[in-house]
Amino acid sequence: MPVRATTLVRVKVLVIGGGAREHALCRSLSLDPDVTSLHCAPGNAGIAEVAELHQVDALDGAAVADLAASLGAEFVIVGPEAPLVAGVADAVRARGIDCFGPSKEAAQLEGSKAFAKDVMAAAGVPTARSYVCTTEEEIDRALDAFGAPYVVKDDGLAAGKGVVVTGDVASARAHALACVAAPGRVVIEEYLDGPEVSLFAVTDGETVVPLQPAQDFKRALDGDEGPNTGGMGAYSPLPWADPKLVDEVERTVLQPTVDELRRRGTPFAGLLYAGLAITSRGVRVIEFNARFGDPETQVVLARLRTPLAGLLRAAATGQLAAYPALRWSEGAAVTVVIASYNYPDTPRTGDPITGLDAVASLGGDAYVLHAGTRREDDGRVVSAGGRVLSVTATGADVAAARERAYAAVDCVALEGGHHRRDIASAV
Ligand code: AMP
Ligand code: GLY
Repeated sequence: MPVRATTLVRVKVLVIGGGAREHALCRSLSLDPDVTSLHCAPGNAGIAEVAELHQVDALDGAAVADLAASLGAEFVIVGPEAPLVAGVADAVRARGIDCFGPSKEAAQLEGSKAFAKDVMAAAGVPTARSYVCTTEEEIDRALDAFGAPYVVKDDGLAAGKGVVVTGDVASARAHALACVAAPGRVVIEEYLDGPEVSLFAVTDGETVVPLQPAQDFKRALDGDEGPNTGGMGAYSPLPWADPKLVDEVERTVLQPTVDELRRRGTPFAGLLYAGLAITSRGVRVIEFNARFGDPETQVVLARLRTPLAGLLRAAATGQLAAYPALRWSEGAAVTVVIASYNYPDTPRTGDPITGLDAVASLGGDAYVLHAGTRREDDGRVVSAGGRVLSVTATGADVAAARERAYAAVDCVALEGGHHRRDIASAV
């Protein structure tokens, strides 16, 4: 029997964004019988196969609301953080259209690391000890206080690239000075050891519904070498994690954070993403994000059996308390990101992508989600961003899903592209 909230059926949906996360969202929405028509702006060449694409300035709330109204969309889902931090969800709601995504104020949980630290302190949520610095003197004092390895974070949004973790005090200091020169603030914090976990929760501002945990691979190169990226691959679930982890994080992190934001008069409704470190001293929050993670969404949604539109709309309309328990498929999912030449530095774009049809012929357990891609007038698909494809597969366990994912990766060619060969290899 399909699990759905009976009042929330039959909906025309507009998704904002154009990465593999949005392709994963659109794929799940296209499989949801309650979605009568699916639109996406700006989308990409892969999303075009499941949704009608539109152009919009995703950071312009009035333009997004106009587009939704002109399409007769009843529900808007905002994928990336930048529109949320710019208040796009507020503008859509002000037009009387349901929107999945937190308000501008609540999105500060991701938009400002200093704000997130303040909320965590007030809510008693375990996180790394930290200093917010604006001067050279404060920076030196903070670096001295923690010692190596140093963790230095730009206060504002930086697409996962504003963080430097280094044993070298000179590089730590240089990054911190660049952040405050911007002008801005820098957060310097205690180093957290232990594996990282991404746990997403859907929330309506009161009730919290955790999804299944995932792990992503942030560094560009095999063996966790090279610079930080937006994420080079992911898998879910985590066979090594304590089965009580999700309940513990809900109780000690997710619910207190949601309660604190509601207490402040800025309830957080949308997707609360907790980036966690499982340290020897217990779970600590590394960061919060105010939206689905990329590439973790690709593997989490690959296994979610509950129709997506009803779940997200229940969150957007304050109806999660009565929502039925989520259903998940058995087994695991793995995704491997194929990135452009020179990513995460200035990526080269316009490179041809071939082999996509060969993946389609492998069967439904492996599929390609598009990120930075574009279809040329002559029909060729070319790269149009740093992360280009998210090759995703499911299987009976992580090893089986991994094998299928890499079989699919090996079908695809992106000129000059690179990907990691060790995603989920040590599980
Ligand atoms: P963030 O943008 O805050 O998620 O940081 C990006 C990456 O830097 C994280 O996924 C971690 O790998 C690393 N990182 C951030 N904060 C810490 C910390 N306090 N200790 C160790 N590693 C960290
Ligand atoms: N995968 C990291 C992020 O979405 O921020």
